[in-house]
Amino acid sequence: SDRSLGFCLGTWKYSFHFSVGNYYLEEEAAYAYESMCVDSINKGLNISIASAYRSYGEQKELYNTYLKLYGKSYVDKYVAVPGHSEHQTGLAIDLESLECDIFRNSKEYLWVKENAYKYGFIIRYQEGKEKITGYGAEEWHIRYVGKNAAEYIYKNNIYDSSLISSISAPTFFSFVIKFS
Ligand code: DAL
Ligand code: ZN
Repeated sequence: SDRSLGFCLGTWKYSFHFSVGNYYLEEEAAYAYESMCVDSINKGLNISIASAYRSYGEQKELYNTYLKLYGKSYVDKYVAVPGHSEHQTGLAIDLESLECDIFRNSKEYLWVKENAYKYGFIIRYQEGKEKITGYGAEEWHIRYVGKNAAEYIYKNNIYDSSLISSISAPTFFSFVIKFS
């Protein structure tokens, strides 16, 4: 992808037709997302980001908020304990559709489901895989693993957590995604 498009330390030059604020990702994941997002726009889709990198503190705040709102059994199923969230790696994104509030029912999800692997992303917490992943299904949560691993995981339908967390991560939180 073309680096002049942006995602770089706040010097964002590329303007999407919607505004969702600032999100942080690892560089490699940011470029992969950028590429996926541009292709999805060209397909007439309207994907946005609801959450990306979260610090330990942010994860803790989110965990406590959801705990108060929905209780322990909910957070056990849907929210990682602080220190254990993929969002803290800068490799995970929660997507949303700007067309449909329920992501699972959106055409954005249908496209992401079949195409995310081509950009190096997997839908991490799948229905029917709760025992393996430890979480309830989250169709919106994608995790960057690189193209080779994503294709392997997608085509073989393998979502084993120890396999996925063994895929090495890039090292710096250097990029900002800034939509304006
Ligand atoms: N919702 C996912 C599991 C997280 O909190 O990382
Ligand atoms: Zn998530």
